[in-house]
Amino acid sequence: MSVDIHPVPRSSSSGEAPVLNKYSRLLTQNVAMGGARAMLYASGMKHEDMSKPQIGISAVWWEGNPCNNHLDDLAKKVKEGCELEGLVGLQHATVGVSDGITQGNQGMSYSLPSRDLIADSIEMIVNAQSHDGNISLPGCDKNMPGVFMAAMRHNKPTVIIYGGTIQAGARTVDCPALGAKAGDPISIGDAFEQRGAFEVGTITEVEMEDVIRHSCPGSGGCGGMFTANTMSTALELLGMSLPGGATIPAVYPEKQQECLRAAKAMRNLLEKDIKPSDIITKASFENAIAVITILGGSTNSVLHLLAMARSAGIELTVDDFTRIGRRTPVLGNLKPSGDYVFEDLHKIGGIPAVLKYILANTDLLDGSQLTVTGKTLAENVADAPTLDFTTQNVIYPLSKPVKATGHLCILKGNLAPESAVSKITGKEGTQFHGTAICFDKEDDFYPALASGRIREGMAVIIRYQGPRGGPGMPEQLGPTGAIVGAGLGKGKVCLITDGRFSGASRGFIIGHVSPEAAVGGPIALVEDGDEIHIDAEKCTIDVGVDDATLEARRAKWTPPKPKHTRGVLYRYARDVKSAHLGAYTD
Ligand code: FES
Repeated sequence: MSVDIHPVPRSSSSGEAPVLNKYSRLLTQNVAMGGARAMLYASGMKHEDMSKPQIGISAVWWEGNPCNNHLDDLAKKVKEGCELEGLVGLQHATVGVSDGITQGNQGMSYSLPSRDLIADSIEMIVNAQSHDGNISLPGCDKNMPGVFMAAMRHNKPTVIIYGGTIQAGARTVDCPALGAKAGDPISIGDAFEQRGAFEVGTITEVEMEDVIRHSCPGSGGCGGMFTANTMSTALELLGMSLPGGATIPAVYPEKQQECLRAAKAMRNLLEKDIKPSDIITKASFENAIAVITILGGSTNSVLHLLAMARSAGIELTVDDFTRIGRRTPVLGNLKPSGDYVFEDLHKIGGIPAVLKYILANTDLLDGSQLTVTGKTLAENVADAPTLDFTTQNVIYPLSKPVKATGHLCILKGNLAPESAVSKITGKEGTQFHGTAICFDKEDDFYPALASGRIREGMAVIIRYQGPRGGPGMPEQLGPTGAIVGAGLGKGKVCLITDGRFSGASRGFIIGHVSPEAAVGGPIALVEDGDEIHIDAEKCTIDVGVDDATLEARRAKWTPPKPKHTRGVLYRYARDVKSAHLGAYTD
């Protein structure tokens, strides 16, 4: 039996106010759920709160990572905003791990698996607790796709607030060998690149430690157009974040204001009953891919957008990236390949200014797509600042792009029959022909680099790093940084892996090679000295070995033993699909 304990507005075809608490009222207005109400009273809710909509506030919060350590504070601000809007905000944290810390520590890479675990945990609490809506606060790379995937599963009104970008750090000592001076801006990518420069004796330990200690000055996701900022861009384009939210630095007062705006937006979404499935379309994904391309975003976006589209029931494939990339220029002069960080983009108007410029001058975007404001993308940015190409150099004009077509290149060939993903800015050239040197473990790579075994013209292959083999596709930021640091960047050496690359990586790098080595993909069959041919214009990646030889090698190949026989990584390796499909587990 269900009775009204606390009268609330009802929706009806007669134009009455809509029901805003249509899930939580199953607890708060149901005489059979007295135990549940007792629990809610004991949790701090008051009598008058029982008729209000309940909003889950999901912060991917924990200490020990600058991308996430401030999210509890932002969540409290969201809760304050909910109270102002007549909503009950109920905070919870989700599990998360740092992409900068957890890439293969002690042989375990929990980073990519955390994406699906974040989705699982938010789906679980939002549905189990009968929340009426959700406001999520992600920070580090995997958080953004994770909270999005949760939203598509529970499909209740949702607003996503990116925790914000970190500010640039600065050197405190000169580094003459690199032509760098105290005060020069640095980011996390520089910290990773120090290792190679130190290993080959280019810089001193003091110079290396200076960069490590000062590259991350406080809270916020990694500051270039790396993966976190790429995915915050995607969420704004997908319409799930408020306009401008993608670029607001974590420590700016605007980020706190965004938390209050999110609560107001939530009230509107509830009143209009706008759910994620009303917002997300194939066109909104195409918008996201286009702007990620325009800004020069991370290769990880391919993996995440494929999985996110699947969670939304939308058919998106790697070929969509190729199609959109062919018609879309790169305009962003952002790190890792360019000069600026996300805070600089924010100062010239952020994503809204870019959208306004692109919408006004091209047909690359569909401005009619709905967003969490209840308005369209185009309506949201109508009053955005206008980019001034005489005073800023963060975004290049369409007449003078960084690159005329997209930088995210999907490669196929006998080395990657499904696909591989590369980031080709053109600065390293568009072709690579060299000889393979193979490593089955990342740890074996560093001694080879330090001893001079890795030389110009080599294709470094680091394999058994895929979704199943890693497991979890550990990012090869260490090797890419070490290669650049050792003076082998700029296309002198190519790096190929069935794992991933951090968004901070640069150079001639190919990742997500599928099928992966652990399931017998051809990357497992390459031998030292084989010729490797990559052509980013033709989108091909091949090993210069004939089919008969590859088959003979395959006959001798044996699958590796699973690295884990219990726990999260065991279940992940058992369930995960190919990177070609987004490495999803659901
Ligand atoms: Fe968290 Fe880079 S390590 S965003």
